[in-house]
Amino acid sequence: MASRDENQVQKQVEEETQRIGRELWGHLERRRPSVFERRWWLDHILEWAMHDESVKVQMFRFVDVLPMLRSHESVTRHLQEYFEEVRSHLPLAAKLGLDVSTPNSLLGKALALNARTNARKMAERFIAGESVEEVLQSVAKVRKLGLAFTLDLLGEAVVSESEADAYQQQYLDLINGLAPAVNNWPENTTLDRDETGWIPRCNMSIKLSALDSRFKPIDPDGTAERVKARLRPILRAAREHDAYIHIDMEHYAYKDLTLQIFKEVFLEDEFRDWPDCGVVIQAYLPEARNDLEDLLSWVKDRGTPVWVRLVKGAYWDYETVVAEYRGWPCPVYQQKWQSDANFEEQTEFLMRNHEWLRPAIASHNLRSLSHAIAWANVLEVPQQAWEIQMLYGMAEEQQQLFAELGHRVRVYMPFGQAIPGMAYLVRRLLENTSNDSFLRHAYDTSVDVADLLKAPQVTLSP
Ligand code: FAD
Ligand code: 2OP
Repeated sequence: MASRDENQVQKQVEEETQRIGRELWGHLERRRPSVFERRWWLDHILEWAMHDESVKVQMFRFVDVLPMLRSHESVTRHLQEYFEEVRSHLPLAAKLGLDVSTPNSLLGKALALNARTNARKMAERFIAGESVEEVLQSVAKVRKLGLAFTLDLLGEAVVSESEADAYQQQYLDLINGLAPAVNNWPENTTLDRDETGWIPRCNMSIKLSALDSRFKPIDPDGTAERVKARLRPILRAAREHDAYIHIDMEHYAYKDLTLQIFKEVFLEDEFRDWPDCGVVIQAYLPEARNDLEDLLSWVKDRGTPVWVRLVKGAYWDYETVVAEYRGWPCPVYQQKWQSDANFEEQTEFLMRNHEWLRPAIASHNLRSLSHAIAWANVLEVPQQAWEIQMLYGMAEEQQQLFAELGHRVRVYMPFGQAIPGMAYLVRRLLENTSNDSFLRHAYDTSVDVADLLKAPQVTLSP
C-alpha cells in the first residue's frame, strides 16, 4: 500500500500535470493548421479516407500492393477490385471515378495516376525522403527548427542474407557520410548537450530483424550471433564518428530476443563503457515494468548508463489480430487507458532512475507528456537529462512548442524506398485514424481539454 508521503507526491504530480497540460493546450490552440495550409488538407483527406472501417481495410490493402504494381492498368484494376466491395460507402466523386474507368482507357490511366499521387502524398507526410541527399537536407531543415533527429532506414524482417548485408551497408554509409557533416554544424546547446556534456548529433534507430533473414525467437542464440556479427561494425562506425545507436522494438515475439541481443552486445568489453546507445520499452505490454527492472539491474552491472525510449507500442492491431487468429493469449492491453496508465507508471520509474536509464519519452499525447514533465519537475530531474521524442509528420505544432519551451525534442525520421516503407506507413495510418488516438481527438474542436487531460481510469499498481 502507498504511504501518505507517496500519496502526497502522486497528488502533487497530478496537479502539476493538469497545470502543465492546460498551459500547453493554451499555446496549441493558437497553432492549429488552418484551411489555407497544406497540412489541413492532408489531415482531412486522411480523415475522409479512414472514416469508415470497411473503406479503411480496402485502403490498407491497396496501399500495401501499390508499390508492386507496374502499369497504370494494373493500378486501376486493383482500385476497382478493392473499392467495388465497399462501393456503397464511397462519396459520389469516388464512385464516378471507379465507374468511368476501364483500366486501359485514358480515364483509367488518369485514375491510376491520381491514386499513385495520393498514396505518395500520404507517404511523404510520414517518410522524410529516399536518397542520402534528401536525408541531409531533411535533417538540416529539422535542425533549423530547433529539433534533434534520429534516422531510421526503412526496412524490417528481411527475407535474404543479401538484403541484410545491404541494410547493414546502408547504415554504415549513412553514418560515415552524415556524421562528419552534422558534427561540423554550429553548436545548439539544448540539442547537443545533456546535464553532463556533449551528446551525439547523429542519432540512428535500427530494427534488428533487418540484420538477419533468419531472425527466429525459437533459435535465440543462433539468431543473436548472426545479428551481433552484423551489428558490431555499425556500432564501431558509430563510436568512431561520435554517433548514437538506438535499438527499436518490434513485435512481441521479437521482444525478448531483442533485449537479449541488446544486453549481450553492450556488455562486450568493446562497447561496455559506451553511453551513446539505447533500447525501447513498450507500455502496451503488461511486462514493461519487469523488463525495466531487469534492464536497471543489468545497467548497474554494466556500469555505464543507457537510454530507454518509452513508447506505447506500434503493433497493437497486429498483436491483437494475430493472437485472436492463433487462439493465443493477447500480449497487449486491450483497453487504451491501460496502456496510458502503464506508460505513466513506467515514466515515473524512468524519472526515478534517470541516472542509469536515461528517459526518452516518446509520445504525441499531451496528457502523457505533461505527466512526464510533471514527474521531472517534482523529482527535480534536470531538463537536459531527459528528452521528448516524436515521429516525423505527427503533432508538428507540439514538436515546435516543446522545443520553444526549452525541451530537447528528437524527431524520428524514416528514410527509404516505398516497398520496405509500406509496413511503416500502414502503422502510421492505423495509429492516426484509430478512434482511440489522442491526436485524432485533439484535432476535434468540440473536445474539452479536461477530457484530454483526464488521468487514465485507474492505477495499475498492485
Ligand atoms: P496515443 O493516441 O495516446 O496512444 C496510441 C497508442 O495506444 C497505440 O499506438 C497503442 O500502443 C495504444 N492503444 C491503442 N488502442 C489501444 C487499446 N484498445 N488497448 C490498449 N492499447 C491501445 N513503437 C514501437 O512499437 N517500437 C518502437 O521502436 C517505436 N519507436 C518510436 C519512436 C518515437 C520517437 C515515437 C514517437 C514513437 C515510437 N513508436 C514505437 C510508436 C509508439 O509506440 C506509438 O505507436 C505512437 O507514438 C502513438 O502513441 P501516442 O502516445 O503518441 O498516442
Ligand atoms: C515503427 O516502425 C516507430 O519504430 C516504430 O512503427
